[in-house]
Amino acid sequence: MSKIFACFKSIGAYIPKRVLSNEDLEKMVETTDEWILQRTGIKERRLASEDELTSDIGLKAAKLAIERADIKTDEIDAVICATLTPDFLCMPATACIIASKLGIKNVLAFDVSAACSGFVYILYLAKSLIESGRHKNILIIGAEKLSSVVDYTDRSTCILFGDGGGAAIISQTKNKNEAVMDIQISADGDYAHLLVAPRSRIMYPKDDRTLEYLQMAGNEVFKVAVKTLTNDVMEILRKNGVSSSKIDHFIPHQANLRIIEAVREKLDFPREKTVLTVQKYGNTSAASIPMAMNDAYEEGRIRHSDLILLDTFGGGFTWGSALLYFGGK
Ligand code: UT7
Repeated sequence: MSKIFACFKSIGAYIPKRVLSNEDLEKMVETTDEWILQRTGIKERRLASEDELTSDIGLKAAKLAIERADIKTDEIDAVICATLTPDFLCMPATACIIASKLGIKNVLAFDVSAACSGFVYILYLAKSLIESGRHKNILIIGAEKLSSVVDYTDRSTCILFGDGGGAAIISQTKNKNEAVMDIQISADGDYAHLLVAPRSRIMYPKDDRTLEYLQMAGNEVFKVAVKTLTNDVMEILRKNGVSSSKIDHFIPHQANLRIIEAVREKLDFPREKTVLTVQKYGNTSAASIPMAMNDAYEEGRIRHSDLILLDTFGGGFTWGSALLYFGGK
């Protein structure tokens, strides 16, 4: 029997309408458009409306991914959502809510908490489930309403984050040229304290407001991110015998243009092969890679069988990279 591979069959995204520009932030905290652009590359980010939940954001992205995969919702046999801003802190999982809104019943549905690395983590899970032969079509979603955990009086974090969602259908294929080739994911909890959001009322006393919102030791995160991402990407390329010149699209997590540039230069990727959306969406955590991929897809840049490299880094610390041939049309 020939081997079953996991195919990245479609991509979709939802970009909330409201724009929060650097000029808007200048009126809210002591900062400047120039500082934000220089240090992060971000010009603006999108915010969901008050009544829009992470599941609403994920749902819209999922609908587009399902339509583009040309499958029916009753063909989907698993729904996995990566988010650090679930509708409910403990339960039910946002994946269950999205599945219900799509009319998908009696299949496994759960959330994964891996911060900005969430999308690559769930891609890894979907690949494993598909290759096991037990699943045929898996809906994976990275969706965030980060505006719900950002402190808009803290200039060191509020300039960075935005809301949005992305989704993909991962299906079975026997064709190696449309398969997810390899994924490596990892974590180091020794760095957990450097990026935290928000506190658990069980772990911290009720009168301690220090972790009411997302908090980050930005500069320390920055240094570890550059080093870890560079090593991680070099490792996945080496392991698979792929030279960086063979990559058609490099789609990194969109946290900071300086991080992306440092990794890109180290790997000698041309700028035109690097997908950049950080300037218009900011950092949307688990949604950042699928949102960027969707942008490139809608611009007509990504075609069937193109070789794509993903890389990501986030709270935990968690990180990961993926090498895949795009399986969509
Ligand atoms: O997605 C998960 C992973 N996250 C990341 O990868 C984010 C990683 N970190 C970063 O992107 C950067 O560290 C930041 C953009 C958050 C900060 O840039 P930085 O170059 O590391 O700046 P810094 O934190 O070292 O701060 C430098 C100065 C400080 O002032 P002093 O102490 O030198 O007087 C800050 O108070 O910049 C000040 N500062 C600001 N100034 C104007 C911090 N935020 C702002 C601001 N506007 N918004």
